Amino acid sequence: MDKLCIIGGIPLKGEISISGAKNASLPLMVASLLSDKPLTLENLPHVEDILSMANLLATLGVKLTMEGCGTSQNAQGKVITFDASTLSSRKAPYDLVRKMRASILVLGPLLARTGYAKVSLPGGCAIGARPVNLHLKAMEKLGAEIEIEQGYVIAKAPKGLRGANIEFPVVTVGGTENALMAAVLAKGTTCLTNAAREPEIIDLANCLVSMGAKIQGIGTTKLVVEGVETLFPATHRVIPDRIETGTYMIAGAITGGSITLRNARLDTLPAFVKKLREAGVILIEEEGKIHVSVEEEGLRGVDITTAPHPGFPTDLQAQTMALLCTAKGKSSIIEAIFENRFMHVPELIRMGANISLNGNTASIKGVNRLHSAEVMATDLRASVSLVLAALVADGKTTVNRIYHLDRGYEYVEAKLRSLGAQIERLKDA
Ligand code: EPZ
Repeated sequence: MDKLCIIGGIPLKGEISISGAKNASLPLMVASLLSDKPLTLENLPHVEDILSMANLLATLGVKLTMEGCGTSQNAQGKVITFDASTLSSRKAPYDLVRKMRASILVLGPLLARTGYAKVSLPGGCAIGARPVNLHLKAMEKLGAEIEIEQGYVIAKAPKGLRGANIEFPVVTVGGTENALMAAVLAKGTTCLTNAAREPEIIDLANCLVSMGAKIQGIGTTKLVVEGVETLFPATHRVIPDRIETGTYMIAGAITGGSITLRNARLDTLPAFVKKLREAGVILIEEEGKIHVSVEEEGLRGVDITTAPHPGFPTDLQAQTMALLCTAKGKSSIIEAIFENRFMHVPELIRMGANISLNGNTASIKGVNRLHSAEVMATDLRASVSLVLAALVADGKTTVNRIYHLDRGYEYVEAKLRSLGAQIERLKDA
């Protein structure tokens, strides 16, 4: 497996472009299943998860046509047209679903369009149990019969789905996306309450509207969908990746550097931006660019609790912890979304961090320096937090198992290198 070798201690400087959002792209790609008319998506990031989803859709019979395939970080992002008029299978097999949990999103659209779907249950995950019970309950509310057989969800609605009132007991991003897509073709009106309102959901809803869906309440916790019979061809541009944006803000700040992010938006990260500023990071937005630097007095500790949007994103928790490891004073981080999302903690401790864990709370005492070590992580955001820590650590750090990183960060080492980092990928022999 590939590794990254990083020599820390260089303040980053320069400008990079933020890619299209992975977590917006995945449901947008799936939305193509709702229609027999083509959907063109622009600004898709070149990351493994997108390839996995493309593979799954191709297995279902969707025809994919690719333009402008980017091979360098300057490429404008891939443009792919998805044509699901050739849909030929309604089964998402285990081998594809286990690679990527977001595969469960095909359930709603397949069921809504064809009255049947067979989708492998995703199984466990490195950051928590991550059940899909709320996805299934939503489909049942819309009139589907659900059975679990040999690890597969089998969902049937031979007479089609019908609108319903669905109230989510906890906020779920994927559950909201699945129900929203299914409701677009259900007969009558569907009301989703306590819906997630992440920017990725807004992006999905906007795309569905451009395909001909009727959705009200976009951006709020109550989505009202009036079912339609047919959809139209559409073209949609994926929003910039807010988690990648936040990750590079931390890369700039942790190294005491001064960097600029193009194609980035502060408004999609309200709680994160507030906490970063509280910690001493200077963030200035002008003309679609964000300038990142650090106050003269340096970084200071802050207290954080993750929460659904507009709260502090769990997907930036690990990276923020890396930042706080060298901030003056004490910090605390409460992880309130996933029960096991502290896999980076023992690795950061091996690099000299002072962190203690008590249930879902991490207490951090800032240290003057981190030092290099050989480290590895078991999920995407934990892996990148180790890269961030390595950027400021003394000496040469090796980050193992970086296939996690490749799932969600486009051209990570090229982008960091262009900011002055000493980073090298060692290919598996
Ligand atoms: C999405 O996952 C993201 N993935 C995750 O990004 C992100 O961490 C998460 O939302 C929270 O923001 C994609 O968008 C592809 P949830 P999702 O359903 O939809 C519980 C990354 O690093 N729950 O909002 O799977 C669940 O266990 C990742 O890019 C149920 O109990 O997350 C969790 O505690 C990883 N039953 C909470 O809800 C259900 O049926 C929120 O999960 C569904 C969820």
